Amino acid sequence: MASSSEINPARPVAGVRLCALAEIADPGAKGFRFRQDGRIFAGFVVRKGELLVGYVDSCPHAGWPLATFDDRYLTRDGGHILCTGHGALFTLDGAGATSPCLGLRLTSWLIELRGEAVFTG
Ligand code: FES
Repeated sequence: MASSSEINPARPVAGVRLCALAEIADPGAKGFRFRQDGRIFAGFVVRKGELLVGYVDSCPHAGWPLATFDDRYLTRDGGHILCTGHGALFTLDGAGATSPCLGLRLTSWLIELRGEAVFTG
């Protein structure tokens, strides 16, 4: 079994184009999955106004992916990130705001905006 500190070969290197900025709703989020050597890396990008931030798609509570449906990472009002596993809410900057993730954080996934497109950072 792989440990969490082991490098995931599926994690994309810096400079990989993810999508056009316009493909992410505002407010909204978009998930991305990469596969290599039988491993999967999943991340998602949150957009709200000037905020554009990426997270590894793994809840700090139990390690599950956060969204049940594609790209449905945010609450209906766009104010929080929701883990559908056990209902934890996170602020858009990744801090756990409710049980069972109060005091925990989502793991950042470095992304960057280049012109009108989003790339891995
Ligand atoms: S797996 Fe996310 S709240 Fe439990």
